[in-house]
Amino acid sequence: MPQTRQIGLSLGADICWPACFEEILTQLKLDIPVNGDRLRFETERVTIEPYNLQKPVKYDMVLDRISHWFPMTREWVKKIMVMDGVYVLNNPWTIQSAEKHTTYAAMMRLGFPVPETAILPAKEYKDEWDNLVTMRRYGKLFSLEKAGDSVGWPHFIKPYDGGAWRGVTRVKDPAALQAAYNDSGTQIMHLQKAVDPYDIFVRGLGIGPQVNIMKYNPTAPLHARYEVAFNFLDAEGWRTMTRYTRVINAFFCWDYNSCEALRQDGILHPIDFANACPDSQVTSLHFHFPWVVKSLLRWSLFCAAYKRKPNLNPNWAPYLAIADEDISFPEKLEKYDALARAHFDSDRFEEFSETHLKHLDEVAWEFFGTERCREIFREKVAALFPKHEIDEFTDHYFGLVQFWRKTEAERVGRAS
Ligand SMILES: Nc1ncnc2c1ncn2[C@@H]1O[C@H](COP(=O)(O)OP(=O)(O)O)[C@@H](O)[C@H]1O
Ligand SMILES: [Mg+2]
Repeated sequence: MPQTRQIGLSLGADICWPACFEEILTQLKLDIPVNGDRLRFETERVTIEPYNLQKPVKYDMVLDRISHWFPMTREWVKKIMVMDGVYVLNNPWTIQSAEKHTTYAAMMRLGFPVPETAILPAKEYKDEWDNLVTMRRYGKLFSLEKAGDSVGWPHFIKPYDGGAWRGVTRVKDPAALQAAYNDSGTQIMHLQKAVDPYDIFVRGLGIGPQVNIMKYNPTAPLHARYEVAFNFLDAEGWRTMTRYTRVINAFFCWDYNSCEALRQDGILHPIDFANACPDSQVTSLHFHFPWVVKSLLRWSLFCAAYKRKPNLNPNWAPYLAIADEDISFPEKLEKYDALARAHFDSDRFEEFSETHLKHLDEVAWEFFGTERCREIFREKVAALFPKHEIDEFTDHYFGLVQFWRKTEAERVGRAS
């Protein structure tokens, strides 16, 4: 008996990847045998509307991009996970509760080389709840300079809950720190030792157990920050970055998150790895964009096919037990990664992809060369760029994706 599995896409401003995801899924024409059933797959964009908590949901899995900032959807996601057993990426509870600060603390505990980091009480408080009396009674006077000394100079002062480079300042001396702190208002700020100089900035994007490592240049204009670069890390660096990304994601039950790291003296220092809604637009990722679409398809199809069970409770104890072993950090990292791979059911996922999604590479390769794909890119460009730049930047992004097709031609058995 054929069965249809429903994948819900819970979206906000995204334009390009969902459109490509839907198009490619249709063209895959999937009809696959899993556990005695023949499975077909459909996607639907989730609408925002009143619902009765007892009403069952029709989705087998949901790929969510908004619940971390859109409370109505966050609560819906929690309800469908806890009441209907639907798998959703990402886990909304750990995103809500684990700010950047928790992720720094947890990964330091596992031995990751996160730069020295301190946290400061906010500079100002709103006169609400018992804020003022609490600070009058218990706020301890402190030396900002000493707090700065504790991490070292220069360092970055940035909000403890981070995101989108908001309020991030590099400070080189106590006067600059004081000025930045004075401007921080009611925000709680981290001080973090600068990885300075660094010779490479990399981003690991994780989707389920899959990880793509990209070279990044934060000082370039937006469209050129992700670089088209190959062989910028040696095999060891590649493995380390892949493991960092997968372990962080498995630890927090995130399936779709990116990890930023800077390399100094051969060591990759992770500096920001709670990015629950990672850059996924063709206008940022260009060459790397097809990887995102294909990886989201593979992972969503796998989760929907097997009706993967939501992770309601992160399980940190086994990681902490490894952290306490008397072995080196690379040895620990290898062991953490074995836990992470098991968390993502990686062997079964790889077998599923190999058996049932073998034609994805070729279907996607074809699709990314079509006029329809170009139209989708144009729609995304038109949403971001001024009118007179739309043609130029559509060509730019489409051209980089054609370059990707050239590099992939061999994989899909086409002459380049
Ligand atoms: N410890 C650090 N060393 C060097 N550069 C840093 C450090 N922390 C932040 N930065 C720079 O500031 C940028 C924004 O900081 P980040 O922690 O990534 O904040 P956000 O969460 O807003 O992205 C980083 O991409 C990097 O360029
Ligand atoms: Mg960042």
